[in-house]
Amino acid sequence: PSSARREEDGQITIGGVPLRRLAEEQGTPAYVIDEADWRMRARAWLAAFGDHDPAEPPVHYASKAFLSKAVARWAAQEGLGLDVCSGGELATALAAQFPAHRLTFHGNNKSSAELVRALEAGVGRIVLDSFEEIDRLAGLAADRGLRPRVMVRVTVGVEAHTHEFIATAHEDQKFGFSLSGGLAAEAVRRVLKHDALDLVGIHSHIGSQIFDTSGFEVAAHRAVGLVAAIRDEHGIRLPELDLGGGLGIAYTSEDDPADAFDIVAGLKAIVARECFGYGLAVPRLTVEPGRAIAGTPGITLYEVGTVKQLDGLRTYVSVDGGMSDNIRTALYDAAYTCALASRNSDAAPMLARVVGKHCESGDIVVRDTWLPSDITAGDLLAVAATGAYCRSMASNYNHALRPPVVAVDGGDTRVLLRRETEVDLLALDLG
Ligand code: LLP
Repeated sequence: PSSARREEDGQITIGGVPLRRLAEEQGTPAYVIDEADWRMRARAWLAAFGDHDPAEPPVHYASKAFLSKAVARWAAQEGLGLDVCSGGELATALAAQFPAHRLTFHGNNKSSAELVRALEAGVGRIVLDSFEEIDRLAGLAADRGLRPRVMVRVTVGVEAHTHEFIATAHEDQKFGFSLSGGLAAEAVRRVLKHDALDLVGIHSHIGSQIFDTSGFEVAAHRAVGLVAAIRDEHGIRLPELDLGGGLGIAYTSEDDPADAFDIVAGLKAIVARECFGYGLAVPRLTVEPGRAIAGTPGITLYEVGTVKQLDGLRTYVSVDGGMSDNIRTALYDAAYTCALASRNSDAAPMLARVVGKHCESGDIVVRDTWLPSDITAGDLLAVAATGAYCRSMASNYNHALRPPVVAVDGGDTRVLLRRETEVDLLALDLG
């Protein structure tokens, strides 16, 4: 986070809050979010687009990265839209009084109950992902005398250079309608047959944790081509184009992310150029960053429990959480960096692996890192850039209690989500 500092006494502070104090007050593990940093990144994305109608934000925060009611309010206050992709995310946004017209509802298998909830709440856009859903939503909307704004999710056939599990625009996967097979054009025909659906644009999301922006360029190129084909076939001009999220962040010093301003400027230029080529008016461009807003402002604070030195191999440093609060290392082989957060050390660095307390050898938090060789039980470790896809993908594996999420700012802490308790755990167990 941008406010992280190492103080003279050796401990790290974030948002002016010393992490030793935070650990004493909140316990460990705990997720900590630098609220000012989160808001600053949100504002930077919006600023990159320049002037816009506040009712139609060009940036929708992808709430799957991390959502709580407070975060929905931050997004609302900063002027963002919000992308939700489940009944639970929708319910959280609505519970926070997030303006429904600034919501986009995604998903490849939305239930009828979810669609009805979205319709009745008046969400701004529903992104259609299957033929079955097109007809079903049209029926649900017609029954209620509603005409929702919809987008068609298109699979543009880009091989994004990221982990296979988080790439979404190659042909062989579950999302959207593929361009090459003509399915996207067919989906548009199907939507246009329904008076109850108001088709406003095309949506593309090519994947996540992407550094090579050429994928977005290809996506923009192909999506505009589709908009032109739709004009030629139907004589209509789709006013909106959403290019999704996916911008990578720095987890380690090897990652070199582009900044929001450059990315947006690049995308706008490509869309404008392509539209010019087709003689099309330039559609309103929107994006959906999740990680690029929420990732870097968050850390996870752990306490070290045991240290095992395996001669000639490495040292295993066990912390009091693990794959239940951060599944990304096990799932995507993700790389993280961490630091001793409670004190300074002059001890020589040693090659360490930070592991959790779960009953699996794949329960790795940080695969390879250099830590001071005097690291010991009771030390605090901070793992960087865990603000996205860690709490939101957390589980109760081994009946772990999910950690709290604490916002820090100006020396104050505020608990956004409290720690789970055994009472929470047992409340679900009906015997
Ligand atoms: N829009 C759509 C339609 C998406 O599916 C996603 C992410 C985003 C936006 C936001 O992507 P972002 O800007 O955060 O990269 N659990 C994985 C990431 C999966 C993302 C799925 N969709 C991870 O931990 O890396």
